[in-house]
Amino acid sequence: MEKLVLHMRLTLNVPADVVLERLEEPARAIAATAGLLWKVWLRRDDAEIGGVYLFADRRSAEAYLNGPLVQAVRNNPAVTSVEARMWDVEASLSALTRAPLNATGVTSSGSGDRAGLDDKETGSKEARVERFVGQVVTDLAASMAGVMTNLGHKLGLYRAMAAGPVTSAELAARTNTDERSIREWLDGQVAGGYLTLDQATGRHVLPPEHALVLADPDSPVFLPPAFDVAASLWHDEDRIAEAFRTGKGLGWHQHHDRLFSGTEAFFRSGYRAHLTRTWIPALEGVATKLSRGGRVADVGCGHGASTILMAQAYPGARFVGIDYHEASVQTARARAREAGVADRVLFETATAEGWSGGSERFDLVCFMDALHDMGDPLQAARRAREQLADGGTLMLVEPFAHDSPEQNVGPVARLYYAASAGICTQHALAQGGRYALGAQAGLAPIEDILKQAGFGRVRVATSTPFNLVIEARA
Ligand SMILES: C[S@@+](CC[C@H](N)C(=O)[O-])C[C@H]1O[C@@H](n2cnc3c(N)ncnc32)[C@H](O)[C@@H]1O
Repeated sequence: MEKLVLHMRLTLNVPADVVLERLEEPARAIAATAGLLWKVWLRRDDAEIGGVYLFADRRSAEAYLNGPLVQAVRNNPAVTSVEARMWDVEASLSALTRAPLNATGVTSSGSGDRAGLDDKETGSKEARVERFVGQVVTDLAASMAGVMTNLGHKLGLYRAMAAGPVTSAELAARTNTDERSIREWLDGQVAGGYLTLDQATGRHVLPPEHALVLADPDSPVFLPPAFDVAASLWHDEDRIAEAFRTGKGLGWHQHHDRLFSGTEAFFRSGYRAHLTRTWIPALEGVATKLSRGGRVADVGCGHGASTILMAQAYPGARFVGIDYHEASVQTARARAREAGVADRVLFETATAEGWSGGSERFDLVCFMDALHDMGDPLQAARRAREQLADGGTLMLVEPFAHDSPEQNVGPVARLYYAASAGICTQHALAQGGRYALGAQAGLAPIEDILKQAGFGRVRVATSTPFNLVIEARA
């Protein structure tokens, strides 16, 4: 795997100091980027800052550049221009000049990272125990505080705070909630760093950067719905334990309903930000075809979030969403009616391995975060191939992953492995598990399946920190 250097240069319309002093939190988030080995921060004169980054590979660098952290930089009103250049590393000369190319850390935010492991191997045994206790207590706190994050979302507390700083009484009044409970909630949010307390006024503040993540459902980094997925995992713990014992798996349809609505809302944020803006345009010729009309199948469509977004972006095209889960299909139909696209968007209960799209073939067949879940992804890919028109394209949106587990470390990989062990792998096992790819399979096994299914040309068209977008053509 070739390491890669990214050089970024930002010009500012405010003094660099003003920006730099606010960057501690973003720096921590950058440190947790999968595949980042290190970053050197730079400043020049008064109004220019930048960085040199070493990434483990090109895919990680591209995911970072296309991801929410760089997007937030581009959207920052203090930033007037952003230049980014990627450079291949000239290894032998760099070795002569002692470049730190052998860094092995793929970082995470302090939980289970390889760079951290090097640290953890230093110091006394007691110090190492203490550090690990700290890590697990952080996880335990996050697990319990997740309920509070969900309450903040569902009771509209974060949304109310996006309008400006509040006391507990003001927040309770604005959200029709109990002041004493809100006071306790606010203190916990400050303890976790989600909110700050303005000592002078006694008001609690939701920083605008946090509002993007917690209070704005239209933001590409809106995360609260994912906590419903976590809630479904806890709810289904006994069934998952049984599946671990028997190896018989647990079907998607056997989970608590919060899995279906949580997945829909969580994935919709990413789809809204990327699907028709960057992912479909990254496929060869597909956006042009769909803007003139065409036919699309969305296999494993769930509640149809992606199907409906595509239908809204391409009003001349027709869509079919396929899912084996009848309850999801019914919800998808209701969503299409609410969105006013039901005349061009049909949802059908059928399996990916055997669905029939009628006599007319499709220009695009997509699997949005679904192929790795399927018990027989090879048959599902073959079926998609049969349904494609000549020159048609298969698009797979899969969780971001490298090809080997040693590289899949850090918070995003950890989140996906948890979902995979409790949901995706179990579902594939319940469907016969010919492959049971899991959510961190990476490109290699998927490419192999696609080639067996008759797709000669397979490539990663684009990626984000959460997703790989794979294009396959016959
Ligand atoms: C992780 S969810 C993704 C749902 C949706 N694509 C989205 O992005 O919101 C996976 C979906 O695949 C569906 N699914 C799993 N196995 C299937 C199969 N063999 N045939 C059809 N659908 C399947 C599940 O019912 C579920 O809705």
